Amino acid sequence: MKILSRRLNFMCLFLLVTCYCLAQNGSVREDIIIDQGWRFSFGHPFETDKDFNHGTAYFSYLSKTGNGDGPAAKAFDDRAWRLLNLPHDWAVEQSFSESGSFSHGFKTAGKGFADKSIGWYRKKITLPEGDLGRIISLKFDGVFRNSKVWFNGHFLGTEESGYDGFEYDVTAYVNYGGENTIAVRVDASMEEGWFYEGAGIYRHIHLQKVNPLHIKTNGTYITTDIKPGYASVKAQISIENRGTNTIAGDVEIVSTIVDSKGKEIATKQIVSVPKPFNISLSDSEIRINNPLLWDIENPNLYRLVTTLKQDGKIVDIYETTFGIRSIRFDAEEGFFLNGKHLKLQGTNNHQDHAGVGTALPDELQYFRIKKLKEMGSNAYRCSHHPPTPELLEACDRLGMLVIDETRLMGINNLHLGAITRMIERDRNHPSVFCWSVGNEEWAIEGNIMGERITNTMQGFARSIDPTRPVTVGISSGFKSGISSVVEIMGYNYLGNGDIDAHRNQFKQQPGMGTEEGSTFATRGIYVTDDAKHYQNAYDRKPRPTFYSIEEGWKFYATRPYLAGMFIWTGFDYRGEPTPYGWPSVTSYFGMMDVCGFPKDNVYYLKSWWGKEPVLHLLPHWNWQGMEGKEIDVWAYSNCDEVELFLNNKSLGKKKMEQYGHLEWKVAYQPGTLEAVGYKNGKKVLTETQKTTAKPEKIKLTPHKPRLTNATDVAVVTVEVADKNGLHVPTAGDEINFSIKGGGRIIGVGNGDPTSLENDKFIDAINLVSITGFKEQALTTATLPQQLPSYPENAWKEAFKDRDYKNLAAAYVYRGQFNVASKSKTDVVSFFYQKVGVDAVVFVNGTKVTATADDAQKYVLNADLLKQGANTIHIVATPVHKVKDWDVINANPGVIQIVTPSEPYKRKLFSGYAQIIVQADGSGKEIILSATAKDVKAGTLAIPVK
Ligand code: GAL
Repeated sequence: MKILSRRLNFMCLFLLVTCYCLAQNGSVREDIIIDQGWRFSFGHPFETDKDFNHGTAYFSYLSKTGNGDGPAAKAFDDRAWRLLNLPHDWAVEQSFSESGSFSHGFKTAGKGFADKSIGWYRKKITLPEGDLGRIISLKFDGVFRNSKVWFNGHFLGTEESGYDGFEYDVTAYVNYGGENTIAVRVDASMEEGWFYEGAGIYRHIHLQKVNPLHIKTNGTYITTDIKPGYASVKAQISIENRGTNTIAGDVEIVSTIVDSKGKEIATKQIVSVPKPFNISLSDSEIRINNPLLWDIENPNLYRLVTTLKQDGKIVDIYETTFGIRSIRFDAEEGFFLNGKHLKLQGTNNHQDHAGVGTALPDELQYFRIKKLKEMGSNAYRCSHHPPTPELLEACDRLGMLVIDETRLMGINNLHLGAITRMIERDRNHPSVFCWSVGNEEWAIEGNIMGERITNTMQGFARSIDPTRPVTVGISSGFKSGISSVVEIMGYNYLGNGDIDAHRNQFKQQPGMGTEEGSTFATRGIYVTDDAKHYQNAYDRKPRPTFYSIEEGWKFYATRPYLAGMFIWTGFDYRGEPTPYGWPSVTSYFGMMDVCGFPKDNVYYLKSWWGKEPVLHLLPHWNWQGMEGKEIDVWAYSNCDEVELFLNNKSLGKKKMEQYGHLEWKVAYQPGTLEAVGYKNGKKVLTETQKTTAKPEKIKLTPHKPRLTNATDVAVVTVEVADKNGLHVPTAGDEINFSIKGGGRIIGVGNGDPTSLENDKFIDAINLVSITGFKEQALTTATLPQQLPSYPENAWKEAFKDRDYKNLAAAYVYRGQFNVASKSKTDVVSFFYQKVGVDAVVFVNGTKVTATADDAQKYVLNADLLKQGANTIHIVATPVHKVKDWDVINANPGVIQIVTPSEPYKRKLFSGYAQIIVQADGSGKEIILSATAKDVKAGTLAIPVK
């Protein structure tokens, strides 16, 4: 093995790779995210007419290849469909209803809502002739759920999972040098989880182009071994040959490791070209002296650039980000990262966020992981399914350990295939330290079947990645079944069994609390009110068999054999509004609400998980009408002592117990409640809660000062301040938003579990069919400019039994369409599909003109339209059949009614709301404005780089 070492900075390498692609006219790998410009419409699970008659063709797409019908057909006219960008979650766009699903947050979509359970997506892409000879594929990061995909009418397959990534090779179906159509039918009529899962293409889609000889998708596997003074980095590369001809000879693989400063170390390897449709593996080893290890504080990363050369020519370049670190579980002492003991201070999380549901722009992943880190958390459990790749990237880059989990336990292709996809995709992420192959599988947890399934799954997982252990979250007793064989015992809740007793029986088995907490709290609320579905935010035992956060942490923190605990949950999520139901639509479990606004528990954790001095006082001090009444005042702090003052009068100094909190009973008087924290007898922190005056002014604060890419987002905190500039914690003002410049609003939230306000404000699109389509034959081919009157008794069903050998000179067609409610602001358009060669169109007797940019689109003036039935006439010269079997279009098109949405608005909840603003790619500065009744407006300028 020859080791080369030279210096080149990251930027140079990037330029080199990019230039190479350009110089060779795209002859090496391209990975293009194709999120922009999709057409979308709802279909239907069983009423075929509402599903655009899809699947009704005599020869279906399952009978003959290329026979996708309805929207699956290449030529389907989707111009009237909604235009949108991915990621997209149609469930979050819907209203709420009591008849909705408790698990999915009562949204009127998916299970039980047939009209909102099927989504069709279509996109046209142009592929140049130069792509001929390359392997073209579509890579989906995740679609919820049960998706079917067609490419130019060719059926590519079905993917049931709402969480696993999948890839289709489309090379053979491409129209090189022309237009190609991707069609996706998504069926969200069933749920996989018992928590909000969204609906639609909610993760990215990539168009990938590679040479026939290339590195397989996820075809690099990097493992690291830390030795004194150096690390040995082993890379296994899977080279795939998708070419049809046997290629003689060898390929050279150059593996180059680049550190963050651009330093490069490379090695060369020669392997023989795999036979067509075969894969060959190449192993290399590179030594890095004095490596910078990946850890929580310093998440140092390296890149492996794998270059594949055939006959001296580069045929592929593949980049893999990785980190050098070691992990170890010890049954006595817990978890070790790079040989250093680390208590896992984790949270469980689902993947949705306020306003956007499951369709998170990448930046929101970073926003959320940063919030968890600010709380002192160092570990994240992906409950209960594999995450989007960007979440793991954020964890790698920010320093957060991850338990990566599959969805369903079992030993068949469905289950083991999901393990393969998860591990092969995620095993290079330094953040991932443990695989989880299940959670609370009550049918098998305690029995022999659970034992067998776990043995198979964890053995299988180890066969793909022997470097990480496997866990399962277990809840119904910690003795037999899964818990007796799983590598790392995952305890779900102290209340579910005797953890110490289990450990005494299974002394060799390391363990961690995969779930703990499930406490209830509403942000900023300090009095439980069941009528309002409010849960006070003081940390307390929520149910007889569940424990407070403090009780949970005291248990785990004081047992060295337990590696740590994962709180249920870091963030609130939609669905599971336990202990309530409708009209609560989000959970109460989070340390933060769905927006990421902290509940008070965050400060308890920050005190004992973080490294900084912390002092936090609760509740707020706006208790008008409660004068003289006793209020529970708590302090969360890691100071040795805390003294409390009300309006400068001391209410006593108290000693802080380790992992504890402090409490006072205080008779309410408006003014200033002040806490002073002491460490080693010295005053280190003060914290106040002040009674505020009424709201005076709106304040808008973005989470970062500027947006730096075309789809970047700003998460904007919305609040009101009083005349002294104090945040008003009880404010509930309704705020109206408007936006100008280079951005759009993509969602709003406020963390109120009972808020049934819109998450999104989007234009409604209603597609109206033309019915009762009739015709009369005409004797002249001259098209009229004014609508003549035609004999009423001569109308007959259009196109019925037409004799194509004896066509008339022209035909007049007549149909009706219904405008259910007429509004001046609606935009009504007719998307005409040719039923003739030349045509004129009349609506309610008046000739209409096509738009300048689309000769088959007519925007219909509101004055022309009537509420109820409207009549359309089309006079057209006929299309002749060239061959007998030619199918002539008989569908005149569709009427589209667009009802503009109201502007974005949201009420503050306990003083806060959040609005998410996304750049539109124009690069222009974004101006966000907010107004409300009786308070001064707020404006925010967000620069876009
Ligand atoms: C657990 C379960 C979680 C969540 C939680 C709520 O049993 O694993 O997914 O449902 O309960 O308390």
